[in-house]
Parts: sequence; structure tokens; C-alpha cells
Amino acid sequence: MNTTTGTRIYRGTARNIALLAGKLRTGELVAVPTETVYGLAANALDARACRRIFTAKGRPANDPLIIHIHHLAQLDQLAVMNPAARRLAEVFWPGPLTLVLPKRPAVPDLVTSGLPSVAVRMPRHPLLRRLLHACDLPLAAPSANPFGYVSPTTAEHVRAGLNGKIRHILDGGPARIGLESTIVDVRDPRRIRVLRPGAISMAQLRNCLGQPVVQYRPQPKAQNLAQVAPGMLTRHYSPNARILLRPRITARDLLQCDARTACVFFQKPAKATGQHVYWLDAEGDQTRAARRLFALLRKLDTSGYRTILAETAPPGPMAEAINDRLRRAAAKN
Ligand code: TXA
Ligand code: MG
Repeated sequence: MNTTTGTRIYRGTARNIALLAGKLRTGELVAVPTETVYGLAANALDARACRRIFTAKGRPANDPLIIHIHHLAQLDQLAVMNPAARRLAEVFWPGPLTLVLPKRPAVPDLVTSGLPSVAVRMPRHPLLRRLLHACDLPLAAPSANPFGYVSPTTAEHVRAGLNGKIRHILDGGPARIGLESTIVDVRDPRRIRVLRPGAISMAQLRNCLGQPVVQYRPQPKAQNLAQVAPGMLTRHYSPNARILLRPRITARDLLQCDARTACVFFQKPAKATGQHVYWLDAEGDQTRAARRLFALLRKLDTSGYRTILAETAPPGPMAEAINDRLRRAAAKN
């Protein structure tokens, strides 16, 4: 166990799991590993506990939380299911898929920011599953970063962002996927919409359901945006450095690489290596690139670069999700 100014990182021993389950039951916050990114968890049925999440993250009250469960029986209390949602849950849970469904009254309004819908997911990370089982509560958990910053994919990232603001971090190693879950609005079975792309692709959802699934594209001035995809109201996933995106980094772009500007290729370039040149994955493997993206953005941010010139992902299994995060990180400019 490591201690610094009140924030502890716990290894996933049976004793620590039992201890942290007790903390959750008494309304404390615990940062937890998931297969996507680390989350900041509290008892989802306790509004006072969940309020602490918003405070610790500096998260505005109009950005609702995702509820994590470990057993389908927990759903009845939280959300109203339908056949399409049931099918997706059967195929993709536990895993990186969040379902938006009509909410039940047991879920505090604070958790859903007053919306009539609730976002639920069953995570796959074995340590989190043990913790969910031990505390026997649904856990509300947004990503464990200060609001708007890059999501954490290690326990150390959580501590770097929330040191002193939270007391407990459960260390489950580096996140296997590295990007947040796919969020899909399944309230209307005839109009299934992806609100946030993730490791489960639109093609996988369509194949599973045998029906159209569309990407929700908010109109800039849409009246109902806050009702449908509240998280899209704000810029997200942004490092402090300015991000500029390129379909390909050219020889001319490379001339700009210096102590203030990092160049991030998607795949290791044939030549053009040297100082200030980086890549997401040597072979351009999309799964590994996704896993590394947030950690690399953080590293470049703390290395003092003011600008990050980054290549977008070429078509591939994780391209939707990687490019969504890159675009949102760049949207700050
Ligand atoms: O992979 C993940 O989803 C991670 C891990 C910790 O599970 N969680 C995560 O949570 O990314 P967060 O809070 O950073 O992002 C949740 C997103 C927000 O953009 C929020 O607006 C959206 O989910 N959301 C939550 N409830 C919603 C609802 N009822 N309708 C539409 N969007 C909702
Ligand atoms: Mg987040």
C-alpha cells in the first residue's frame, strides 16, 4: 500500500477488496479499475455519496453518471428493459457497452442529472467485479479524472489528477481497452443510436440486432441536446497542449517538430524518427493504439509540449472511437 497526502493506492488483495467494499457501503468514494478506463465510484442509490463524485471531479451537475452492475438482476431496480437491450446485454456484457434506458425511481435524480433515462453497464474487469460482488451495490462511476481532462488508464493517472480529493484507489493495472465504453441509446427499439463510439463498433451492434444502428450527430443548436447526449455539450478528453489533427503527417509537418511541438504518427514511420517524433503503435495495431492513446497524450502534456500534431486512425476496428476522442481533444482549439 502506498500513501501520499491522504490518497492511497490499494493492491487487489481479498482483504483490500473487503475493506473498500465497506468504504463504498458507508458512502465513501473509491476509484476503480475497469477494462475501459478507471472510474470514480460511489453507491449509485445514495445521492449524498454520488454528490461527492461531482465535487471531486469538478463535474457540472448536468452531466449524468454511468451505473455499473455485476448481475442482471440488479437492472430491474434501475432501468426498464426491452428486447433489443436484453439482446445487447446478453451478447456484450460484461464488456465495454453502456445502455441508455428509461430510469426507475430508485435511481436518484442527481445520478441522471434529472433525465428520465439512466446509463448502465456491466464491466468485465475481474477486480471490479469482485468489488461489485463484495459491496453488493450498483456503483455510479464516471471516469476518474478532473472534468474535461484525459481519462485515466492507470492508478497513477488517477492519483495525478485527484490526489488529495479522494482517499482510495484500487489498482487493477493498465486498462486493457484504454477508451471509454460505447454508449448506445436503446430507449426506442426502432431508432437505436450510438451516443459515444467505443470498442464495440456500430457494425457489431448492427450484426447483433439485425437492424439499423445510427451514430447520433448533435446539431450545434439542437434544443434537445441536453436531453439526449448531455456529455456532448462540452469539450472532453483534452490535454492542456493544443492538438492539431492530420490524416497523414507530411515531411512538411515534420519540420515543425521541436521541443514545443510533438509529432504523433499512428504507426511507426519508415524513416523520420528522432526527437519529438512518436507513434501510437509500431505496427499500427488499432487495439494497441487505443490502449496507448490517453497515456501518450498525458506523457506529452507533462513533457512540456505546447502543441501535439497527431495523425488520425486509418479505417479499422477502433478507428471510430480513436478518432472521436482525438477530435474532441482537438476541439478546444
Ligand atoms: O467506459 C466508461 O464508460 C467509463 C468507465 C468508468 O465505465 N465511464 C465513463 O463515464 O466514461 P463518463 O462519466 O466519463 O462518461 C459518461 C457519459 C457522459 O458523457 C454522460 O453524459 C453520458 O455518459 N450519460 C450518462 N447518463 C446518460 C443518459 N441518461 N443519457 C445520455 N448520456 C448519458
Ligand atoms: Mg469522462
